[in-house]
Amino acid sequence: MTTLKILFMHLAGPLGQGIQEFLESQGHTVNWVLDEEGCRQWLDQEIFDGVILEVKPEGDQTVELVRHAKKAHSFGIVMCLVHPEQLSIALEAMEQGADGYVKQAFEHKELQIALQRLQEYRSLVGANFYLRRTQDLIYRFDDIIGDSPALKKVLSIVKKVAHSNASILIEGETGTGKELIAGAVHYNSGRSEKPFIKVNCAALQDTLLESELFGHEKGAFTGADKQRIGRFEQANFGTIFLDEIGDMSPSTQAKVLRVLQEQEFERVGGTKTIKVDVRLISASNKDLREEIAAKCFRDDLYYRLNVVNLCIPPLRERREDILPLGSYFLRRFSGEMSKKVVGFTPEAESMLRDYTWPGNIRELRNSLERAVLLSEKEWIRPDDLSLHGADGMDPLNDVDTIHMPEGGIPLVVMEKKLILEALERANWVQKDAAQFLGVSRRVMHYKIQKFGIRNPNWVKNK
Ligand SMILES: Nc1ncnc2c1ncn2[C@@H]1O[C@H](COP(=O)(O)OP(=O)(O)OP(=O)(O)O)[C@@H](O)[C@H]1O
Ligand SMILES: [Mg+2]
Repeated sequence: MTTLKILFMHLAGPLGQGIQEFLESQGHTVNWVLDEEGCRQWLDQEIFDGVILEVKPEGDQTVELVRHAKKAHSFGIVMCLVHPEQLSIALEAMEQGADGYVKQAFEHKELQIALQRLQEYRSLVGANFYLRRTQDLIYRFDDIIGDSPALKKVLSIVKKVAHSNASILIEGETGTGKELIAGAVHYNSGRSEKPFIKVNCAALQDTLLESELFGHEKGAFTGADKQRIGRFEQANFGTIFLDEIGDMSPSTQAKVLRVLQEQEFERVGGTKTIKVDVRLISASNKDLREEIAAKCFRDDLYYRLNVVNLCIPPLRERREDILPLGSYFLRRFSGEMSKKVVGFTPEAESMLRDYTWPGNIRELRNSLERAVLLSEKEWIRPDDLSLHGADGMDPLNDVDTIHMPEGGIPLVVMEKKLILEALERANWVQKDAAQFLGVSRRVMHYKIQKFGIRNPNWVKNK
């Protein structure tokens, strides 16, 4: 336990003396006073890690002093020392911001434990405060790089709507900056001091996702041995960011719709209705309209989510952003790695400009991190970039293997054939086959039903 600088106001007598000696024996520095006036003076003059106030028998100015101490140093610990019959004062003091109380006649051990707990709590609050500040910096508009009209348009909408409570749907391919934009909305809104909670809807199975979002009561399902507070509750007064929302099951979709409409829900296995005030930002790298057409996504939810639509175009459609982003990452990584890398050779520049960037800005970022790390010269050369298929072929043009028969072919036949091929290539794992064709699992499932496709192994096993 680290040592603290403590201000201790106590009544004259052996009890106060004993505590003071105990605290000092633990290595803490103690300034002690006997009255409120002295206490106020110290508080105005110096910063303390902890303030311990012994409550006088006749009740007194404790509550007022707590307020004063908390105002003077909001991160300090303030505790009250109370006689058992003074508990109501202690509770009032806690309402005014005191961090805890210890009852007389107590064991010194109890005080020590209380101080330790409060210290841990305080370091968490400090870390949280620090994280929030750094998050603010990460999501500053100045650090969102790009001059393309498309990005400027997105940012101008973000600035206009950040302060409202409107739900926002961010669409864009993987790595285009959807999470960055969601963070920018939150940290530039009136909710910035409150939580920004992110949930990846594709990372969890249906029932787990519901419990993640809405929490559960103890015993709600096998393995639910404790009550759990869900992400919506954690995000109260702040913003929740639901990533990959297209992967949500119909039952979860219905619950999220209800939160949007009524701002309320129940925990899984619970009956109590919980009210929340949460702003919802969602993102999808799939086309939700296609999911709606495939009856996999509710259209009423879509309209609620999509009050404001932000569509972030892929990097290959805003090539003017590539070099500014490239220079930004180069500066950043050479700074972080203390390497003197100053720029790109003209060949590397044109390679960056011509490449198709299927992984968008994340791919660019990773590629430059690697390039700076490996580069032995001041200028990044094409070899340092190690881009896949770096001749810059656009995947849409790279489909020489598909040929239309002389007399033409109905598109649906082609579609069915491709789906079958993808399934075979993916060993009939629908999720992997969906990835080959760039559609969601649900759309894949829908098409399999539509075309009546059967896995020969399934049939055999039945
Ligand atoms: N305009 C930008 N300026 C600076 N950095 C950016 C910009 N856009 C994205 N990035 C960076 O690129 C990386 C990928 O961005 P982000 O995680 O927001 O993408 P995403 O669209 O959420 O991706 P995914 O769909 O894969 O989840 C992050 O490191 C982010 O900080
Ligand atoms: Mg993301």
